[in-house]
Amino acid sequence: MDPVKVGLLGLGTVGGGTVNVLKRNAEEIARRAGRGVVITHAASRDINKQRICDTTGITLTTDPQVVVSDPGVQIIVELIGGDGLARELVLAAIEHGKHVVTANKALIAKHGNEIFARAQEKGVMVAFEAAVAGGIPIIKAVREGLAANRVEWLAGIINGTGNFILTEMRDNGSDFADVLAEAQRLGYAEADPTFDVEGIDAAHKLTILASIAFGIPLQFEACFTEGITRITREDVNYAEELGYRIKHLGMARRTNKGVELRVHPTLIPERRLIANVDGVMNAVLVKGDAVGPTLYYGAGAGAEPTASAVVADLVDVTRTLTVDPENRVPHLAFQPDALSELPILPMAAVETAYYLRIQAADKPGVLADVTRILGDVGISIEAILQKEPVGDSDATIILLTHRVLEGQMDQAIAAIEALDSISGEIMRIRLETLSA
Ligand code: HSE
Repeated sequence: MDPVKVGLLGLGTVGGGTVNVLKRNAEEIARRAGRGVVITHAASRDINKQRICDTTGITLTTDPQVVVSDPGVQIIVELIGGDGLARELVLAAIEHGKHVVTANKALIAKHGNEIFARAQEKGVMVAFEAAVAGGIPIIKAVREGLAANRVEWLAGIINGTGNFILTEMRDNGSDFADVLAEAQRLGYAEADPTFDVEGIDAAHKLTILASIAFGIPLQFEACFTEGITRITREDVNYAEELGYRIKHLGMARRTNKGVELRVHPTLIPERRLIANVDGVMNAVLVKGDAVGPTLYYGAGAGAEPTASAVVADLVDVTRTLTVDPENRVPHLAFQPDALSELPILPMAAVETAYYLRIQAADKPGVLADVTRILGDVGISIEAILQKEPVGDSDATIILLTHRVLEGQMDQAIAAIEALDSISGEIMRIRLETLSA
């Protein structure tokens, strides 16, 4: 059988990695796919640029529309990122009856509902394994491997750059800006690195995971997102003293009232495997009712790890080219007419435990005032740590609480901050035990 012809949009880090992996493993890939998979066309903004891959045999152009409309190309691989031009090109590819493989999490999280509906009408596939957690086959695992389960919750370290920064802060006391620059040099960070440190990139990925885990439409706008820029070295140290690590976690949980969908710094007990996922590595913990907790670990970014997921999608699409569209695995794991309307919960209705760091005057009765306010709104304390003031400064009180509705915690924090003996804002970091 003739090889399947692929058109690549974008020849940057992941594009270059994809060309290299497809060439290096061509024989194995053909044995798996049932036929060869060959990149025949590629679009790049600068075709004369020096690259990490050899483009011999590939027709290069600066115009991605030429690739998308080429009648010989059967699968378009979109690796240009963003959700403007990428959306136009993907929709154009679908209109031309081409299948699409993309690593673009922003595109899927924000426009996936529209793209999948159009793809279904045209009978083509849109595969997006590389959009979440780089090389970890987490889409395949949740969509197919866990298909027997009612997924209860999932929690993921799904931004390598953010994890790299938190790890370096803890291990080496490194400066935030220096670690970020290193992540950019290594090609891990987004074009706009605020997407990494403010949790937007993780929110894109979590939105996708929640949809395939719970069978709900993609709802990126409803995802709560808090970044890591306010985390201090002191917080990292206090958390360690109490037996926890701070991770930038994406958490999706199904409750009776709706779905919690949130990305924020989170204390996790240090004995959990996921708390020990360091550097640029990613991990996703998925709790299914039948299987129990399952953990998926691997490189979340980088040229070849991401190419690994792109090429796996190319193999998948190639294998199913002849399959009747009705019998293919649905884009969001559940049949499109069987998606649930379970709402995404507002943060006030989310239940979690907390780490609170409070700056308080070192005088009698202050701690009693704080604990009374917490008690009045029904918040139970799990642990207290008090740090002696240095010189004339305030004492630092660290509290860990049991689980409570965020709305109740908002009330308590406002009342505590209003006390004369409390200075500044209370630092609040959510805490998840992630127990089975
Ligand atoms: N900027 C992302 C990260 C790249 O650091 O994880 C992979 O999506």
